Amino acid sequence: MLATAGSAIGLGNIWKLPYMIGVNGGSAFVLVFIACIFFVGIPLMMTEVLLGRRAQKNPLDGMAALAKEANANPVWRYVGGMGMITGLLILGFYSVIGGWVLSYIWFALQDTFLNIDGAHAKANFDALLASPVTLIFWHTAFMVLTMGVVANGVNQGLERANNILIPALFVILLILLGYSMAVGDFATSRHFMFSLDFSKITPVAVLSALGHAFFSLSLGMGAVMVYGSYLRRDVSIARTTIYIALADTALGLLVGLAIYSLVFANHLEPAAGPGLIFQTLPIAFGHMPGGHVIGVLFFLLVAFAAWTSAISLVEPAIAWITENTRITRLQSAWMIGLTVWLLGVAVVLSFNDWSHIKIVFGLNIFETLDKLTSTILLPLGGILMALFAGYVMKKDHVQEELGLHDTGFKGWRITNNIVAPIAILAVFLYLFGVIK
Ligand code: PHE
Repeated sequence: MLATAGSAIGLGNIWKLPYMIGVNGGSAFVLVFIACIFFVGIPLMMTEVLLGRRAQKNPLDGMAALAKEANANPVWRYVGGMGMITGLLILGFYSVIGGWVLSYIWFALQDTFLNIDGAHAKANFDALLASPVTLIFWHTAFMVLTMGVVANGVNQGLERANNILIPALFVILLILLGYSMAVGDFATSRHFMFSLDFSKITPVAVLSALGHAFFSLSLGMGAVMVYGSYLRRDVSIARTTIYIALADTALGLLVGLAIYSLVFANHLEPAAGPGLIFQTLPIAFGHMPGGHVIGVLFFLLVAFAAWTSAISLVEPAIAWITENTRITRLQSAWMIGLTVWLLGVAVVLSFNDWSHIKIVFGLNIFETLDKLTSTILLPLGGILMALFAGYVMKKDHVQEELGLHDTGFKGWRITNNIVAPIAILAVFLYLFGVIK
């Protein structure tokens, strides 16, 4: 359970959700995002955990075993295979952003933020983005941290550390929120995030919200399946899932509220994009009492949260290689680590020297990887797992695994078999221009 929480809580909550809220027009996005968490995220997380616990294997072999048990076509294993590749594609940019966080620990240590204003905070961030060498240095550091753990297969200690560090992250966020409520423009922030304005809901906001529900809960790529396979038999899948999903969502929204209070009080741009937290939070740390220490602690905790998520992005692939070939853990960590590192270098360059290179629909390398994984690959993995659990596996097996009684099980079945697949399908049809 701790490991799953460690995978779910990461840059998705602290870096990505806040800026996506701004880019997608505020409250409309928040509303759809929360709906996606409840009607798609929670049921599909239960599904992924149950698949993992029943299969007791890495995602690819696990799906193969489950297909065999259900007398179904072995091609289902490629759902697991696709997930592993998706994880690596995500890590390609995740590690670069993890590197930004590491570099901000360094800035915070040097007290760079002291009395900083919005313009300087932005200039500071822009200078970081303009320097490929610095970015590659920090991206490399983040990759070394991640692959170091994966190569040794020692993430148990790290998982136990989650026990203290996730609550610590919550505490720091509450302090931050308290501070930004006191000095920032909390009323506007609350209105921006939570006013019920249905008119602003656009198809693009729905698309991004659904994709982000998958990203934030680590769904659709097998990470949750791997951790599900470690979950003890006597633990309730439903309860565990609901706790994790609620904590994950609450954390992201807390950061959002704190950030937008600062954004509006300092007349910054809500739609600033991926740099948002790096351009706003230093202002708070630079002015609040004890801001030096709190800033260092904050970025350390975020780096830790990102680290545990990054490990879960590569673990499925590494597990599959080591269980199926003679390649050792260390060797596969090197191979995969180098490949992902190279991808990350391309992502780094897409923020500066290669920013003019567009892959599809005018998106640069970073944006392409981000959109491809969040809005296509993760929901695709999710819908396939939902259909598999809902229509291919034996109903008794599923019920036995979930351990739910009538009403609960019915609720899961309706959302897993009908609501979630239709929602994902509708989004795909829109994406491919079939419905407008
Ligand atoms: N959920 C993680 C986060 O919010 C990212 C992640 C996505 C991790 C998919 C694993 C799988 O940062």
